[in-house]
Amino acid sequence: MTNNDIHVPVLLQEVLEGLDIQENDIVMDGTLGFGGHSSQLLTACPKGHLYGFDKDRVAVDFCEEKFKDAKHISVIHANYSEVADKIPEGVLLTKVLLDLGFSSFQLDDSERGFSHQEDQDLDMRMDVSKGQTASDILNTYTPQQLSDMFYNFGDLTHNKNLVENILFERRKQKIFTSFELVELIKKSYNFQSKRSAYMKTCALVFQALRIEVNEEFEHLKKFIEDVATRMAPEGVLAILSFHSGEDRLVKHTIREMKGVFKKVNKHVIKATQEEIRSNSRSKPAKLRLIRKL
Ligand SMILES: C[S@@+](CC[C@H](N)C(=O)[O-])C[C@H]1O[C@@H](n2cnc3c(N)ncnc32)[C@H](O)[C@@H]1O
Repeated sequence: MTNNDIHVPVLLQEVLEGLDIQENDIVMDGTLGFGGHSSQLLTACPKGHLYGFDKDRVAVDFCEEKFKDAKHISVIHANYSEVADKIPEGVLLTKVLLDLGFSSFQLDDSERGFSHQEDQDLDMRMDVSKGQTASDILNTYTPQQLSDMFYNFGDLTHNKNLVENILFERRKQKIFTSFELVELIKKSYNFQSKRSAYMKTCALVFQALRIEVNEEFEHLKKFIEDVATRMAPEGVLAILSFHSGEDRLVKHTIREMKGVFKKVNKHVIKATQEEIRSNSRSKPAKLRLIRKL
C-alpha cells in the first residue's frame, strides 16, 4: 500500500516552496500521517534530521516501516503539543510543518466513527489509548457544553433542537453509533430535501465532535506557543488548516506572539483549481507561513 492509496498530501508543492528545505535543515513534521509530505522533506535534508510526530499508532507504525531505511528520521508517537518535551535538549528546529485535521485513512477506513456516511461506533479518538470518546461526550455533556461545542467547533449557530434531541434520546438509551447521531440530526433540522444542506450539517456536527474529542484547539495553541521556544531564529513554520475556526486560532495566536513570529505571506495560500479537481480534500485548505524572529 502506498501513501497515495491512503492519503494524498495537500498543497505539497506550495509547502515545499514555502519551507524551502536545505540539506542541513532540522525539520519537524507534527502531523506525519502517512508520510506524504515527509517523504519529500526527508529527501531534501540528507545532512539534517526530521522529527515526525503522530498521535495515531496506525500512522506511526506505517511510517516506521515506510522510512525504515532512512537514518535521519525519528518517528515519534506523541501529540505535537509535546514538542518541548520530545525534541532533544539543545536541538533547534529550522523548518516545521503542521497539516491539521485527519487523514483520508482515518475518515474512510479507521472504523472509529469519523464519517457520517458509515455506521460505526462513535469513538473519534486519534489516539485510542486515552481520553473520552465521541459517544462518552454525547451521553454525559450538559446541554450548555453540547451547545458550546456545536457552536464553537462547528459554527452551528442553530443547535437548540439538536441538543434537545440528544438529551431526549439519551434518557431512553445511550447514543453509540454514527447512524444514531445522523438520525438525530435529521430530526433536528429542516433540510427541505436539500442534500447539500444535509451533508454540510452532518459534516459540521461530526467535525465539532472530533475537535472536542481530540482537544484539537487546546493542543494547537499550546503547540504554537511551545514550538517557538524550540525553533532557530529565521526558522519557518508552515500550518495547513482546513476550516475557519482552525485558521482563526492560528491567525490570532500568531498575532498575540508579535515579536516572536512574523507572517511570511500576507494572504493565505490556497489550492489551485487543478489540485481541487484531482483531490477535493484540498478545497478548504489554507496555508500560512510564519517566520521565527
Ligand atoms: C492530514 S493528516 C497528515 C497527512 C500527512 N501530511 C501526509 O501527507 O500523509 C493529519 C495527521 O495528524 C495527526 N494528528 C492530528 N492531531 C495531532 C496531534 N495533536 N498530535 C499529533 N498528531 C496529530 C492525525 O493522526 C493524522 O494522522
